[in-house]
Amino acid sequence: MSPQLGFHSLHDEATASIGVEGSLPPWLTGSLLRTGPGAFSMPGGSTVEHWFDGLAMCYRFTFDPGDRAGATGAADAVHYRNRFLRTDAYRAARAGEFAGGFATGETTLRERLFSLLDAPYDNTNIVVERIGDRYLALTESPRRVVVAPDTLDTEGDDQYDGSAPAGQLACAHPKRDPATGTLVNVETAFGRTHQYHVHALTDAGDRRHVGSVDTDAPAYMHSFALTPRYVVLTEFPFRVDPLRFLKPGRQPPFIEQFDWQPDRGTRIVVLDRTTGETVAAPTTDALFGFHHVNAFERDGGREIVFDLETVPDAGGIGELSLDTLRDGSLSAITGRLERFTVDLGGDRYGPGDATVTRTMLYDDGTALPTASPARWCRPHRYVYAMSMDQPASDWAGGVLKIDTRSGDVVEHAGGADYFGEPIFVPGPDETADAGVVLTVTLDTAAERSRLLVLDGETLAERARVTLPHAAPFDFHGRYFPEITVRE
Ligand SMILES: [Fe+2]
Repeated sequence: MSPQLGFHSLHDEATASIGVEGSLPPWLTGSLLRTGPGAFSMPGGSTVEHWFDGLAMCYRFTFDPGDRAGATGAADAVHYRNRFLRTDAYRAARAGEFAGGFATGETTLRERLFSLLDAPYDNTNIVVERIGDRYLALTESPRRVVVAPDTLDTEGDDQYDGSAPAGQLACAHPKRDPATGTLVNVETAFGRTHQYHVHALTDAGDRRHVGSVDTDAPAYMHSFALTPRYVVLTEFPFRVDPLRFLKPGRQPPFIEQFDWQPDRGTRIVVLDRTTGETVAAPTTDALFGFHHVNAFERDGGREIVFDLETVPDAGGIGELSLDTLRDGSLSAITGRLERFTVDLGGDRYGPGDATVTRTMLYDDGTALPTASPARWCRPHRYVYAMSMDQPASDWAGGVLKIDTRSGDVVEHAGGADYFGEPIFVPGPDETADAGVVLTVTLDTAAERSRLLVLDGETLAERARVTLPHAAPFDFHGRYFPEITVRE
């Protein structure tokens, strides 16, 4: 068994109604939209070397109420579709001119950042988020690609009007406040003074400037934490070297412009969403992470709690080159689930008073952790994640449900060789773990991917749907109950 098949190029674009083995709960209607790198080599001759640089592909799995087989509640089919996004990156790749953008290709850092304003990098392979009735494929540039939720056709770019200050980089993961529907994001602006700009995006398409934070050397931040009152940036010591920023000539690709500077520690910046002011900025140990799972407030807002998947340093990014992944020589430290508690201190507006406490929740190997969307910005009990060896010796062989209160862990393995990001879909009563967990898996012997529907409480398999092909491992999915197309 080898994970090599999970890093192949999928050129097949399928539309299929696929029979369900097992049964689905009657309330499960809607669609899972997933996004990831679909191909690493294209017919035009373009190839990339890093997993993150693969060409964006979207996948839709629709549980349609019209397919329910009478009183049993069992669905008889899931509608599946996969499509490459028809982006500038896709067209360049077909012409043999695509050189990645994250860890493949070379240019000056200044060219790379500022060309984003004129010809932004649009290989939006990380996640699809909804704003109003638009579904936007996102990556770490400010460019947002509109995707039709039924056909997965690419429908151009999304633009914001208005005067909110913009940046040249964006966090890949905006955070949604379910109480208001607002989507908050952070952009990094390089200039005489480097700044992080925080924005609030409404369903009407308005973009409001919440506040900005100065930094002497911008950090690589893939996500951040959101509570009802606060935005929390974890400014890891993986920083752009400002001197390199000005240096002329050819340079290594984007991610190699960041240096690990552990002496800086990790600055945790707490921004008030109402005033835009930085209310605390304590520093904790040097660490790195991609994914904030969820965050909430305690003690009337005096404490902020966020769960973050951490690794000791940023060295593991280089391990995600396709050579390493395909030949099975991955050996990086995999994720650990940690809880950070920021005590804002007696004087909420005295940044010097704040303290940070770290608590290990699970250190035995995770990837792509998630929480129930019904708990976003509120206290959550359960975290779901891919189950990795620690350190990695292979790709994920299962999925985990971690009880952050008791420390209990449930694992599902079996039914497939490799597992992707688990997405919890809450049931109608939204109790803590009543629902299902959706995960796309890979059966290497059958050379097929398979969507598994697991019971939210026990992680026992309830149903499976086998795709007409093997899909490469992808990044992130979101469940949209309102998307109920029939094909
Ligand atoms: Fe991500």
